[in-house]
Amino acid sequence: MQKSLTTAEAARFLKVSPERVRELIRQKRLSAEKCGRDWVIQKSALNLFAEHGRKQVGRPSLLNTLGDTARRENAIRPQGIRAVHTVGDGMIYRGDALDILPHLPSSHYQAILADPPYFQVLRNERWDNAWQSPEEYLEWTVTWVRQAKRVLKNDGLLLIFGQLGKREHIWLHTCSLLAQEMQFHDMIIWDRAVGYNERRDSFTPQYEMILVLRQSSDAKPYFNKEAVRLPYSVERIQIYQQDKRYKDTRARARHLSMGKYATNILRVPSLKGVSKEKAGHPSQKPVQLIQHLISASTRVGDAVLDPFLGSGTTAVVAQSLGRRWTGIELQAQYVRTARKRLAESS
Ligand SMILES: C[S@@+](CC[C@H](N)C(=O)[O-])C[C@H]1O[C@@H](n2cnc3c(N)ncnc32)[C@H](O)[C@@H]1O
Repeated sequence: MQKSLTTAEAARFLKVSPERVRELIRQKRLSAEKCGRDWVIQKSALNLFAEHGRKQVGRPSLLNTLGDTARRENAIRPQGIRAVHTVGDGMIYRGDALDILPHLPSSHYQAILADPPYFQVLRNERWDNAWQSPEEYLEWTVTWVRQAKRVLKNDGLLLIFGQLGKREHIWLHTCSLLAQEMQFHDMIIWDRAVGYNERRDSFTPQYEMILVLRQSSDAKPYFNKEAVRLPYSVERIQIYQQDKRYKDTRARARHLSMGKYATNILRVPSLKGVSKEKAGHPSQKPVQLIQHLISASTRVGDAVLDPFLGSGTTAVVAQSLGRRWTGIELQAQYVRTARKRLAESS
């Protein structure tokens, strides 16, 4: 390793985010010298911190508060975790995903649903504006995705939300970078049913995307197409029933009643302000959408991870479908929201 490192290099070395490194510098727990807009950190200071400084991070007594499930399933060390909550078949860790992911067990999760900050889309939310530049955001993304890849089972799927509205073209770079880290599997379109911003220089954006990645080109991910069938419309049923080519009308009726396979364009209305589901999170995803994703990509009893839990939609759905789950969320207020939703839905 070279003698002095930048913030990003130090973050990689310590397996934490660049924000965390800057925070440690601000707290004077890691010595560094200012160099333009960045910091220079000496290798000796980093080694010192890695050996001794980390012991001060987090609350050591927290380990005693972890339940058996937490010890067995996650074997988590307390550093970087601000709180742990066991709820039903799952655990919520409050803290930075980059601090917590390295402590989750390898090859454990059947599916990872990640709805990360999209980068400067929600201008008023601190968590969406934590990076100085698109490059820094991309570097952060690659760092957490490498950890997600490690904890994903070999036949598992990593599903990552993103969008192309107006400013959000960074999503294109994200997809291209991540297709080099893992194997591209699919791109699901979430059709939100109504447009979501006031763009005047093009058509109104109406969809978001879900990039689906698998471990490698020869990995064979579990996917149950039967799990998501959507009802045929009344008109479509009438047309099929009148079609003279089908001789066995009863078999035809049975087939029609099962519904059709979902396509990779999932039309699920986004949540309106008046929606009963709304829990006070600005980018809360609809339960029905998450149900489709979890039902098809996991079996009952499988483990699901959401490293950016927000208001807890993944946890609520996983719990209701009999999956084990783990959620990570930075903000105490959203952890409270998720716990409230879980309590109300149990
Ligand atoms: C797009 S929202 C997720 C919304 C969620 N899917 C839902 O349905 O409510 C992203 C969430 O990630 C959290 N977050 C941002 N940076 C984080 C980090 N480094 N570690 C963990 N959580 C983070 C934010 O506080 C925010 O709640």
